[in-house]
Amino acid sequence: MGFEVHYRTHTCGELKASEAGQHVKLAGWVNRRRDHGGLIFLDVRDRYGMTQVVCDPERSPEAHRVASELRSEYVIQVSGTVVRRLPGTENANLSTGEIEIAAEQIELLNTSRTTPFPLNDTVQPDESLRLKYRYLDLRRPSMRDIVILRHRVVKAMRDYLDERGFIEVETPILLKSTPEGARDYLVPSRLYPGEFYALPQSPQQMKQLLMVAGLDRYFQIARCFRDEDQRADRQPEFTQLDLEMSFVSEEDVMSLMEDLLVYLIEHTTGKHIKQRPFPHISYKDALDRYGIDRPDLRFELPLVDISDLASAGTFSVFRSALAAEGIVKGLRVPGAGSYTRKEIDTVTEFARSLGAKGLVTLAISATGDVKSPLTKFMSTEEVQAIIERLEGKAGDLLLFVADSAKVANDVLFRLRIRMAERLNLIDPEELAFCWVVDFPLFHYDDDLKRYDAEHNPFSGMDEAHIERLDSDPLNIRAKQYDIICNGFEVGGGSVRINVAELQHKVFSLMNMSDEQITEQFGHMLEAFEYGAPPHGGIALGLDRLIMLFAGTDNIRDVIAFPKTQSAQDILMGAPSPVDEKQLIDLHLQVRPQEKRPAKEQA
Ligand code: AMO
Ligand code: AMP
Repeated sequence: MGFEVHYRTHTCGELKASEAGQHVKLAGWVNRRRDHGGLIFLDVRDRYGMTQVVCDPERSPEAHRVASELRSEYVIQVSGTVVRRLPGTENANLSTGEIEIAAEQIELLNTSRTTPFPLNDTVQPDESLRLKYRYLDLRRPSMRDIVILRHRVVKAMRDYLDERGFIEVETPILLKSTPEGARDYLVPSRLYPGEFYALPQSPQQMKQLLMVAGLDRYFQIARCFRDEDQRADRQPEFTQLDLEMSFVSEEDVMSLMEDLLVYLIEHTTGKHIKQRPFPHISYKDALDRYGIDRPDLRFELPLVDISDLASAGTFSVFRSALAAEGIVKGLRVPGAGSYTRKEIDTVTEFARSLGAKGLVTLAISATGDVKSPLTKFMSTEEVQAIIERLEGKAGDLLLFVADSAKVANDVLFRLRIRMAERLNLIDPEELAFCWVVDFPLFHYDDDLKRYDAEHNPFSGMDEAHIERLDSDPLNIRAKQYDIICNGFEVGGGSVRINVAELQHKVFSLMNMSDEQITEQFGHMLEAFEYGAPPHGGIALGLDRLIMLFAGTDNIRDVIAFPKTQSAQDILMGAPSPVDEKQLIDLHLQVRPQEKRPAKEQA
């Protein structure tokens, strides 16, 4: 353990047969007490493990008396002798299973109320209760293991980056609000009435300024704040491994990240990586083949466009989607050709719930007979051409969606995952990474009626495409890369713009006036005029990465004190009203609200 503390000589996780005969002191929580009439057995638990303690009234009547009063989660100190367990009574599931402690003295250090849920991992308690009593939830071994895993991952990140010349720099939490990205969390200024700081959505501008400062290689385990709609993989405050490097190409950043991820996985998890080097997929191919720009590559099941073949025949569902400039796309589900009517209805209902108008099915029986509504509207050859395009075989089920590209892709991307789950194609120990590249620099925002940066306005662009800023902005390739794992976006970054004039032009295209550009980003443009080196970087979502490493699909499980899905802290009770005096100091007045969302209670 490195250093000893007053209350114990050993932790509850370390004693082995080799220590038999030693006199020891342990301290911890009573996990369970079993009273066998004569003998009392205690399982004493701490962060490191569990040790069995035996209280024999013959050996120590006093220890036995104290033990008979103990209840779960009482805190005790035990002094006694390490004894080898009798052959046949060892516990192979416990690191200390070879031994037990013959108690000589037990001291009660503190009592405990009955916990609101059991702390062993046999049942998963209700989440609001877990969050309200997070300090008890974290006593559960499965949660303790995640907290420790997170520490190990961050430590390994620091070691790895330190060895490669990266310097960790803290950047401000009280920053300036800028209009890009998600909604800011604001902090009112007391000294400047009506003015606000913003909490950082990421240290993006600061890390670029550190490159201008000549720091060359920066990283930070950085807390980020975004006031956006919560999802299973989103939190209002989350952590990034944020990094930036000077004099790098896209390939340099990607190859460093890939090497770091492999290092982390090998040093902190038992998971295996599906494919190395990580495949690179263009943004367009990802949408075509998987319907989403964050494909889950643990299984294949590609989506196949059949729009050209779907115009044959007289099937109105296909023809009307195509007439409205939509697409028809299909998915082959191997071995599902024998699905019953009921199973097909379930899949169709699922597609409808995702926004599809319906689902065309084509089942190929084991003997090769085709059953599908398509046969009524298309010739045998036309149907056959579709089957061949999807590489359909005897025993397969083919599913088709006809709709706008957006809806068809969105439905099929989720359907693809659902079918892989049903077919058991997912290995829970596997991590399938890929890089998504070749993003467009801009998309057109129909609501705002202007171009908007696909990633952030600082992303650089293909040199050959710079002239398209004037003529064809939607066809500029950004020097941007996202890293995807098992269908989660775990990180993203880019090689940046480092020329003031170019940066100014990008802001102008986003419909910002010269005054707005100067007011909001003047400091960046000015910095770029003092010898800004070529630079680029990336940020990994640390919480999402730990989720994948730990094998959970709930981001709250990997954060010691997370917010609920409705952005509340139900342990401390935040957000909360404040004193009128505090408001006055901050020059604030709260507007009356017609309706406010109900708060979660545990
Ligand atoms: P981006 O916005 O893509 O890039 O964020 C990087 C990564 O952070 C994670 N992430 C989140 N995790 C949990 N909860 C959230 N609300 C949340 N939002 C994002 C994701 C994401 O891939 N400054 C740029 C990076 C750069 O260009 O270097 C940035 O922040 O895993
Ligand atoms: P309908 O013409 O509405 O009776 O639909 C005929 C079949 O096509 C049914 O099996 C529907 O589920 C399916 N269907 C309807 N609209 C679509 C669509 N946009 N994409 C795929 N299948 C559809």
